[in-house]
Amino acid sequence: MPRRHATPRRYLMCPPAHFAVTYAINPWMDPTKPVDVPVAVAQWEDLRDRYRALGHTVEELTPRRDLPDMVFAANGATVIDGRVLGARFAHPERTAEAAAHLDWFRAHGWPEVREPLHVNEGEGDFAVTASYVLAGRGFRASPLSHGEAQEFFGRPVIGLDLVDPRFYRLDTALAVLDDRTDDVMYHPAAFSPGSRAVLERLFPHALTVGERDAAALGLNAVSDGRHVLLPQAALGLFAPLRRRGYDPIGMDLSELLKGGGSVKCCTLELRP
Ligand code: ARG
Repeated sequence: MPRRHATPRRYLMCPPAHFAVTYAINPWMDPTKPVDVPVAVAQWEDLRDRYRALGHTVEELTPRRDLPDMVFAANGATVIDGRVLGARFAHPERTAEAAAHLDWFRAHGWPEVREPLHVNEGEGDFAVTASYVLAGRGFRASPLSHGEAQEFFGRPVIGLDLVDPRFYRLDTALAVLDDRTDDVMYHPAAFSPGSRAVLERLFPHALTVGERDAAALGLNAVSDGRHVLLPQAALGLFAPLRRRGYDPIGMDLSELLKGGGSVKCCTLELRP
C-alpha cells in the first residue's frame, strides 16, 4: 500500500449566512423544500474547522445577501501557480459572484488575475492533477473556456464530456486524490464513451466509483494528498480509499446538498 503524504493547503471559503434555494438551476435544487440556515452554517463551520485542524489555511469571503449560492466558493475562480482565472457564470442568478471573487483576489494582492471571456464556473469544471488540468463540459463550462485556461495556465487541458444531469459539473463526477501522482477517482457513467476512454488511458489505475456513491455526491471531495474529506453518505468509498492508503473523513453537509453541492463545492483551492 502506498504511503500517502498530506501537504498544507490554502483554501477560500464563503460562509452560508445567506444560503437559500430560491431558484432551480440543477436537478438537486427544489425551491419548495425549506433550508435550515443555522444547520447549514454549523455544517459548514465543521468543514472549515476540520481543514484548520489538519493544518490548512482557510480564508473567508464575505457572503452577500443577494447571492444565495455564494457558499459554493469553488465556482468563483481557478487558481494554479498563483495565477487566478476568474469565473463567468452560465446562469444570471450567479453572475455577480464572479466580480465578488475577482475583487477579493485583487484586494489580497494576487498579481495575475484574469477576467475570462468564456463561461467557466471555476473549479466546478476544472480539476488539477500533476500532469493535467481536467475540464468538464456539457452543462456549465463552455468548451471554449478550455482553450482559454490552457493558454492562461500553460498546462495541458483535457476536455471531458459530462452526460448525466445529476453530475452536471466535473467536481460531481471526478475527484483528484493525489495531485502529485495523478491519482483520481471518478464515476464512469457520468462521462461520454469517448471521454471515458480518455480517462482510462490517462488514469488506468484510477478508483472507479459506482452509481450509489456518486449519487451521494461522494465525488465532491477534497484531498490534501492523504486526508480525503467527502460526504459521509458515500459509504461505499471509505474502504476503497483506505485500501489505497488514504484517510477518508466523512462530513455532513446535508443542508448544502439541497443546493446541489458538498465538500468540494464549498472549497476553492488557492494553489501557490
Ligand atoms: N446551486 C449551485 C449551482 O447549481 C450549486 C453549485 C455546486 N457547486 C459545485 N462546484 N458543484 O450552480
